[in-house]
Amino acid sequence: MIPLKRRKVSQTVNQPNQTCKFPHVSIFILERKMGSTRRAFLTRLGRSKGFLITDTYSSSITHVVSENNTGDDVQTWIDNQTGQESSSSVHLLGIIWFTESMEAGQPVPVEDRHILKVNPKQNVNDNTMLIKSYACQRRTPLKHHNSLLTEALELLAENAEYSDNEGRSVAFRRAASVLKALPYRVQTMDQLKCLPCLGEHSQRVIKEILEDGTSSEVESTRHSEQFQAMKALTGIFGVGVKTADRWFREGLRSPSDLICTGQQLNRAQQAGLQFYDDLNKHVTKAEADMISEIVKEAVSAVLPGAEIQLMGGFRRGKEVGHDVDFLITHPEEGREEGLMPKIINWLEGRNLLLYQKWTRNSYLEKLDGPARPANNMDRFERCFSIFKLDRPAEATGSEGVRSSDQSEASSWRAVRVDLVVSPYSQFAFATLGWTGSKLFERELRRWAGQEKRMSLSSHALYDSNQRCYVRVQSEEEIFAYLGLEFIPPCERNA
Ligand code: UTP
Ligand code: MN
Repeated sequence: MIPLKRRKVSQTVNQPNQTCKFPHVSIFILERKMGSTRRAFLTRLGRSKGFLITDTYSSSITHVVSENNTGDDVQTWIDNQTGQESSSSVHLLGIIWFTESMEAGQPVPVEDRHILKVNPKQNVNDNTMLIKSYACQRRTPLKHHNSLLTEALELLAENAEYSDNEGRSVAFRRAASVLKALPYRVQTMDQLKCLPCLGEHSQRVIKEILEDGTSSEVESTRHSEQFQAMKALTGIFGVGVKTADRWFREGLRSPSDLICTGQQLNRAQQAGLQFYDDLNKHVTKAEADMISEIVKEAVSAVLPGAEIQLMGGFRRGKEVGHDVDFLITHPEEGREEGLMPKIINWLEGRNLLLYQKWTRNSYLEKLDGPARPANNMDRFERCFSIFKLDRPAEATGSEGVRSSDQSEASSWRAVRVDLVVSPYSQFAFATLGWTGSKLFERELRRWAGQEKRMSLSSHALYDSNQRCYVRVQSEEEIFAYLGLEFIPPCERNA
């Protein structure tokens, strides 16, 4: 791997240090609550007077200057930067020390009135102090201590998605995700004091639940006609929020309304409607394993030596999922080309597919990056499918009576399966991108862009500092390059 150079100078602060008169005083000005314009102004002013002012925080800083922050705010910010609780050798100072030093033309001695007070940490906050603000910096296990709160916040996130309000939805999801990472059950609002990502709205909801057991906003949302209809309509495979919203405004409320009114449906939506009940039942790990076996057999028949990996929620250790995701590659780059039609043929020949839609690989490094914003949509060769999965004999017995279209045989069920083919050179990125959770992926991309000036997708990592693509063999290398501690899949349940 290419060693990562120091981050380039921030664009807000573009003037280099002039002759430095006081090398023993290394100043860092905190942008938080100050803004980049004022920070740039103060930096220029200080440098013009011969002060050493550094753009990025490091262990060589001796004086941290901030405005409108408490000592605890600044200390938490520093701890988050360094990933550890910093020593007390650095002075945390209010802006007054800086302005006095500017007037004096030299660093004035630090007095008590300049110092921002840091409260000794209370026991209750010992853990929370260390909760980092990006989900990709934290370990989030599948089972956690705050389901009542996280389910409430995630319902509000879901509702915000139905109203096409992505910002609000992500805010609720981030708040929920922080609670998932806590090693204890939240019982008082006090315990939330130092946690990141908990906005005012989320706190209001949490407070109500802690006090009354439920939140009136969450309950009224849950029972609202719009929420229920949107959930039912987007629950149809092939139907997104836009379509569901249009139908809702036309008066439709449920899948059966679509049949009554004879809506025009595309092929995916027809399949979605036909297998609605099955596709809205959880897929179990046992079923995912059965499908793995089938996919392995298909792939090894059409391309010996190919590698297959179970992705998505099941790779993170989930016991149930809404679908089953697979990533397929071959160690000899290029051998994977044209693989999907062969797999589909093999599966169709055995009557194992109820539906499939195949898209070609359309990724080209030259055209796709780095200018193209990294987002969730990747361009791998991919097959959205619905498998016809035989039920094991014991599962069909007495409860084997099925309804409508699914009644043809009680011996099988429909399961959504996503197959993705990746060139070997992109396999580590594809693996990282397809493991999820969705929020974890989103936070990884945000971390890369905002903190590291890099652009991460399921195909590649582009480093804008070095102006190059980063070649890697493993997920571990990607985390390392991004300056993140490696988080194993089972702790990416953000
Ligand atoms: P899923 O939607 O399958 O979610 O996407 P999941 O985590 O497996 O959960 P369930 O149990 O099925 O509901 C799996 C991962 O694949 C990525 C998502 O970002 C997620 O991390 N993905 C999905 C893509 O990268 N592109 C897509 O088009 C779809
Ligand atoms: Mn999945």
